[in-house]
Amino acid sequence: MTFGFFSNKKLLFDRWASSYDWLFPSVFYRAIHKRLLEYINLPKQVNVLDIGCGTGRLLERLASEFTALKGIGLDLSTNMLRMARLSNHHHPRLIFVEGKAESLAFADGQFDAVFSTISFLHYLEPQQVFNEIARVLSPGGYFYLVDITSKKDTEPQILPISPVELDSTALINVSF
Ligand SMILES: C[S@@+](CC[C@H](N)C(=O)[O-])C[C@H]1O[C@@H](n2cnc3c(N)ncnc32)[C@H](O)[C@@H]1O
Repeated sequence: MTFGFFSNKKLLFDRWASSYDWLFPSVFYRAIHKRLLEYINLPKQVNVLDIGCGTGRLLERLASEFTALKGIGLDLSTNMLRMARLSNHHHPRLIFVEGKAESLAFADGQFDAVFSTISFLHYLEPQQVFNEIARVLSPGGYFYLVDITSKKDTEPQILPISPVELDSTALINVSF
């Protein structure tokens, strides 16, 4: 059941990958990335993870803005990652690896910030993903989450995501 779910998602995004940056929805995704940048508050030397990174557009934008940033993009889809690597202008500062958000192959406290844009809604086990994010974030690190919701909030919200890492925060409901 779980295996079938993951393989179906992988198939869906593998098929979408070559046209992902050219189809109409990408206009929204890019606008979301641009808007998110207005809320980011990170030091110059920063180590970030983008889960469900797709074609890597957000990390490219971040690496251009923060010139000492190091980033890892993680995604389920081999083809999305292929597109991300083809347009990676910041190698080796940026690298792209295959994996699942539910089981991150990274050390505890490895990242200063974790990003997830328009991918959280696809996760089969959201609580497990939250646990993994809290684990790989350094104390005081930030989790920036953007997803599409039906709520009409106009302002982003900052929330604690873990009773252990109270400093870790989530930025949600960025509308535009
Ligand atoms: C709509 S795309 C968003 C891509 C990118 N974050 C953006 O803002 O354009 C969703 C991405 O999440 C990835 N994804 C879905 N479920 C995943 C999972 N369990 N683990 C890792 N990546 C996943 C898909 O392969 C796809 O590339």
